[in-house]
Amino acid sequence: MPFPPAFLDELVARNPIEEVVGQYVNLRRSGSNLFGLCPFHGEKTASFSVSPDKGMFYCFGCHKGGGVIHFLMEIENLSYADAVRALAQRVGMTVPEDDRYQSRYRQQERLWALTKEAARYYHAQLYAPAGAAGLAYAQKRGMTKSTLTKFGVGFAPDAWSGLVDAMRAKGYTDQELTAAGLVSEKNGRIYDRFRNRLMFPIIDVRGNLIGFGGRVMDDSTPKYLNSPETLIFNKRKNLFALNLAKKSKLGYLILVEGYMDAVSLHQYGFDCAVASLGTALTEDHATLLTRYTEEVVLLYDADEAGQDATRRAIPILERAGLRVKVLKVKDAKDPDEFLKKFGADRFQVLLEGASNRVEYQLSAIGKKYDLKEDDQRVRFVQEAADLISTLGSAVQREIYGGRAAEAAGITADAMKLEVDKAYRRRRAREKKRQERIDLAPAQALRPKDRNIRYDNMKSAMAEETLIACLMKDPALAEKTGGLTEADFSVPLLGRVFRQLMDRHKEGLELSIAVLEGLSPEETSHLAGVLQRHQGPAQEQAVADCLAVIQDQRRAAGAATEEDLLALRDRMKQRKGVKP
Ligand code: UTP
Ligand code: MN
Repeated sequence: MPFPPAFLDELVARNPIEEVVGQYVNLRRSGSNLFGLCPFHGEKTASFSVSPDKGMFYCFGCHKGGGVIHFLMEIENLSYADAVRALAQRVGMTVPEDDRYQSRYRQQERLWALTKEAARYYHAQLYAPAGAAGLAYAQKRGMTKSTLTKFGVGFAPDAWSGLVDAMRAKGYTDQELTAAGLVSEKNGRIYDRFRNRLMFPIIDVRGNLIGFGGRVMDDSTPKYLNSPETLIFNKRKNLFALNLAKKSKLGYLILVEGYMDAVSLHQYGFDCAVASLGTALTEDHATLLTRYTEEVVLLYDADEAGQDATRRAIPILERAGLRVKVLKVKDAKDPDEFLKKFGADRFQVLLEGASNRVEYQLSAIGKKYDLKEDDQRVRFVQEAADLISTLGSAVQREIYGGRAAEAAGITADAMKLEVDKAYRRRRAREKKRQERIDLAPAQALRPKDRNIRYDNMKSAMAEETLIACLMKDPALAEKTGGLTEADFSVPLLGRVFRQLMDRHKEGLELSIAVLEGLSPEETSHLAGVLQRHQGPAQEQAVADCLAVIQDQRRAAGAATEEDLLALRDRMKQRKGVKP
């Protein structure tokens, strides 16, 4: 365990889980918890919960859970140590390092820093004499000074070693320049990869500089040169401008093809635009988008390739649980050109005229069924009713209900009945789901992971409650009598109990975030336990739990003795039979 406990306690205290999770998930408060769409599995209803007071997250759908460190490990795919380092960096804490832990994260940190320095260099060049052509080109493309600043647009001068020299002077090694993808190599010598190009920095959602797209200023090829895949740059997992768009208040994200499209949209006030990085849309992109929005407007180039890409992107986005609107610019090849030709107001009109999600989804449902066949019409009506029943306003329900009725050839009244039925069905489902969560029967509480065994349900339930009480009110640790790890029927809960007692003795925090030696499955299981035990922690509850645990333990002990006696008898008999 490389990190001192006191350091970890401070780290966890200074990184409130709702803040850290909030960087990835849109959270809404409901009572003492916050809820959002789970970033770990595709879903349409929010079953992902965060409890600020318990310092933990838990998903009722996929049963993942844990503290703030576990969350970061899971979502960024980091090791424990690297997640700790990332949280420390977030709040400016110094990590007490052991030299043996030369980690991937430290290399990444170095590359982020280098890439940021490079971006500063390119940006400064834009306003230097060597960058006059770059600035002129940016202006010709209509970028304002504030856009250039906001996106950190820069210029790579037409020279072989401008960047290399500047970065060496800042103490970066050739090996690091290569690892960051900023240079090319020939005959053992490195030289600037980007030359005579307008530079668009690519920034991930945590604000790290991870790469560049560099555009030529004439018609030569390649039009864009991008950073190669590196330790910090993965095209399939990042989107251009998402670092800005994630803060948008517009409530949806616009997905475009080109850097220039995204930049223009932002400049014209549509600050929710993001662009893929010259690759087709991936599932990772879609999952990333679900962290920030429920609705995506697809706005690819008007050409054949763009429309092909649209058709491929729709199911990927939908599978991730996103609502999709599709838009196509008219009389312009892409959104950038459209805005420059027609302006923001015309674009707004276009945006509003985009088939909205209900129309779009309704027509998608319509396409699934052959409405000339009776049985298929019935299924269409049911599915459409399901969709319409999710609409909040009666007017909307009436309008779209009427449309669906027309499509299916039934009366509006009949459709309304179906919608009401669907609404009641959904309410009942939701209520049942809530009840399952509130008072789950013991059987349903059995651990999902087979390595965590609940052999004695009665004792296990008491053990769970006891642990939950201790974590809520650490002072109750004084009231646990002489209970030890060995008294627990569930080894995992016993281990947790021992750690809680040890930490309490040393005056350390008792939070799920800082428990040691638990696997992700065990952590998730524990988070589920804590999530279920919402009541207050009382001395009486602890006393009751102690009584049950000790009772069950005695009973189990007795059983073991009986078993031993029986075994001895059988061995005796066998001896007797032997010749
Ligand atoms: P576009 O050619 O549509 O680029 O390619 P654009 O952003 O609209 O650029 P302008 O307006 O002509 O300046 C769309 C995206 O495909 C990737 C880039 O990410 C680009 O933004 N691309 C394109 C490349 O990676 N390399 C290329 O050579 C061309
Ligand atoms: Mn384009």
